[in-house]
Amino acid sequence: MPPAIDIETLNNIRDSALRDLADAINATSSQSLEAWHTSYLGRKGILTNVLRGLSELPIEERKKIGTISNKIKTFLEEKYHTAIQSQATSSVTLDDSPFFDVTLPGREVIIGRLHPTTQIVREISQIFSTMGFESVEGPEVELDTFNFEMLNIPQDHPARDMWDTMWIDYTDTDGNYPMLLRTHTSPMQARIMKDRKPPIRVLVPGKCYRYEATDATHEWHFYQIEGLAVGKDISFSHLKGTLYEFVRRMFGNDRQIRFRCDYFPFVEPGVEIAMDCFSCNGDGCRICKGSGWIEILGAGMVHPNVLMGVGYDPTEYTGFAFGMGVERIAMLRHGIDDVRLFYNNDIRFLEQF
Ligand code: FA5
Repeated sequence: MPPAIDIETLNNIRDSALRDLADAINATSSQSLEAWHTSYLGRKGILTNVLRGLSELPIEERKKIGTISNKIKTFLEEKYHTAIQSQATSSVTLDDSPFFDVTLPGREVIIGRLHPTTQIVREISQIFSTMGFESVEGPEVELDTFNFEMLNIPQDHPARDMWDTMWIDYTDTDGNYPMLLRTHTSPMQARIMKDRKPPIRVLVPGKCYRYEATDATHEWHFYQIEGLAVGKDISFSHLKGTLYEFVRRMFGNDRQIRFRCDYFPFVEPGVEIAMDCFSCNGDGCRICKGSGWIEILGAGMVHPNVLMGVGYDPTEYTGFAFGMGVERIAMLRHGIDDVRLFYNNDIRFLEQF
């Protein structure tokens, strides 16, 4: 049976509906708002129930009370929709719980970092940039021409054995395999000299690949940094001075370095440069294979055949070049005893840098 209906009853219902709506909004829960709507405006809600009694009223009363009732109903519906919308856009909707526990421990934000190889590449590039070397990059999939031929290493030259090569499964019309994964960054020497005129001072960091067994100091893929300086009157003393300065800035004054004659077909004379072993300080251990030294780079004066191959006159221009192993430098810097740790993606290793 619907309750008796008059203006005072309707005003009371409106006032209590507004009070309850304020409580539902404060509860910050969409369920509270829904419960409010059901209890006032739902099919069996308080206002709906009152409106059903309209038919009992005399016709004049019915018109008057009916207009007021509908206004109150529309007014409450609008209030309800505004509350729903503001709750949806409010930042205090983390969950349906009525309070936010500020004493809960926060969630740890894991911050990424640069790979140790990247860090060392940047540090080395920075040192050489202060000596006037510009950094450039080149292709990892390379042509035989640049990786070997233009570096004074023709087909069937025995020196090719120095770089165990991963060939790309692609042959030219003569059945040769002209493409490979570059075995060193030296092909960029030829690419740069072919495209530019001296004076040249560049640094080429990049990834190299070799088809060889891995051990504590050998990976099948690793980074090198190539250095090349070409101009008039460039001598071996410039090479020595540049590399001594690099080692001093990278490792301090106390480390020892050793120059020894070495053979690379694209330089003459060629040298191998080694540093005293960080692990045994030169006494000999597993890491340095008992020698007390760790080879860090190969270097030398650019061979006249290479200069002529790119169209330079070797009586006018000379140059020096070097190629260093980035992981070897990082190993010496941080005392890392196995190059294979760099690319195992073990987070316990990587997060130490
Ligand atoms: C070369 O690759 C020559 N292109 C270097 C060069 C450049 C000589 C310019 C003269 C003029 P080599 O194979 O020795 O040389 O490698 C150079 C350096 O790369 C080594 O001293 C070593 O530090 C690093 N390296 C070589 N092989 C590996 C390997 N398998 N794993 C990690 N580092 C390596």
